[in-house]
Amino acid sequence: MNNLKKHFNQEAEAFDKQVLKNIPKYPEMLTALINAIPDKKEKPKILDLGCGTGNITKKVLERYPQAEITCLDLSENMIEIAKEKLSQYKTIKYIVGDFTKTDITEKYDAIISSLALHHIPTDEEKQEMYKAIYEALTDEGVFYNADVILGNSTYNEKLNNTVATQDMKKVGVTQEEINEHKQKRDDNDIPTTVYNHIQMLEKVGFKEIDIIWKYYANVVYGGTRKE
Ligand SMILES: C[S@@+](CC[C@H](N)C(=O)[O-])C[C@H]1O[C@@H](n2cnc3c(N)ncnc32)[C@H](O)[C@@H]1O
Repeated sequence: MNNLKKHFNQEAEAFDKQVLKNIPKYPEMLTALINAIPDKKEKPKILDLGCGTGNITKKVLERYPQAEITCLDLSENMIEIAKEKLSQYKTIKYIVGDFTKTDITEKYDAIISSLALHHIPTDEEKQEMYKAIYEALTDEGVFYNADVILGNSTYNEKLNNTVATQDMKKVGVTQEEINEHKQKRDDNDIPTTVYNHIQMLEKVGFKEIDIIWKYYANVVYGGTRKE
């Protein structure tokens, strides 16, 4: 975990520019994630897991200006940038911490995450995280995650990587940068298949499980807590 924290502390400054190069569909994916939050409440209480530089929280507040949001992230440097970016919003709570170890004591109408949960090492630990998320939701509360996944066959995984490389080249990323990005992914990412994610959500009790957006290795999926 210390290595991951060090990695993201180092990446923080460059993150916003870099993510658009590495994942050209990032804005579309975030729009899908924000659209997944139901408009049942004017003032929803929301937890952003692995908030990074605050991009998701910013989009949530553009849609729900009165939302009460808690931003949780491992990296102090990421949180500092988020605070600066979101300085006009006075009601955001910031927590520096590891989401796999932080007790989520409050209840939320929505728990959202983007490009963060795939850093949890094993499927068992991913499922434990889903259980903690489920328990921290209000009845009818939703969880949605925008993330990187593993293809469910050797062919699909290869296809996902080929398309990712083509897309990066289209936005001017050089082969050297692509190789560097691939090395960082190999060092830090532990994705699993979307099929596994769906099964884990089912096991912990989520209902209305859905994949609302998918583009090769990027996906937005989640479900609802219903008693
Ligand atoms: C790739 S960034 C994504 C940031 C942001 N969610 C976005 O999409 O713009 C992943 C973030 O997750 C955070 N993160 C990864 N593992 C974490 C953990 N166990 N606890 C808290 N934050 C974590 C990192 O520090 C980093 O800021």
